[in-house]
Amino acid sequence: MKDLLRLRTSLTEEIERVLNEQIKMEADASAMYLAMSAWCDRNGFDFSAGYFKKQSDEEREHMLRLFKYVSDMGGRAVSPDVTGTQIEFDSFRGVFEQALQQEIAVTQSFNRIADKCMKTKDYVTFTFLQWFLNEQIEEEYVARRALELFEVIGEEGTGQYEIDKRVPKIKYENTYED
Ligand SMILES: [Fe+2]
Ligand SMILES: [Fe+2]
Repeated sequence: MKDLLRLRTSLTEEIERVLNEQIKMEADASAMYLAMSAWCDRNGFDFSAGYFKKQSDEEREHMLRLFKYVSDMGGRAVSPDVTGTQIEFDSFRGVFEQALQQEIAVTQSFNRIADKCMKTKDYVTFTFLQWFLNEQIEEEYVARRALELFEVIGEEGTGQYEIDKRVPKIKYENTYED
């Protein structure tokens, strides 16, 4: 029975496991961004609330993209448990610090998976991962730029209001032409 099951997929058990772990990581990120959106909304940061809601949707898309790949390859994609999502955050700035930390952790996680793919000669999964590795450039950039607004604008006076307004306007140019 076991042998027959393994014939259904070229994914090794280890690669299938780390892909499922990444599915969970994306689901956790989606839940965290939604919690950040709610916190921003409660604290009067309307634009950031919209920004984090959008981030949350994107993380779910990432989760589904990985989920589809595992399924398409004949593997067993696991719908993850998402529990213990944080509700409260210390400060407006703290939310953005945590968001950047999360994105860096995701990049590192994809690097580790890519490394495993190379070591096990799973070039199919390695190629599939390129989209995510590329996407993390933008994800980190936007999160870093958002946090930098706190330094550039400052939180004094109407600073927080200005920061909030600018957050959704951050754009990543993936060209070096201009
Ligand atoms: Fe993601
Ligand atoms: Fe992300």
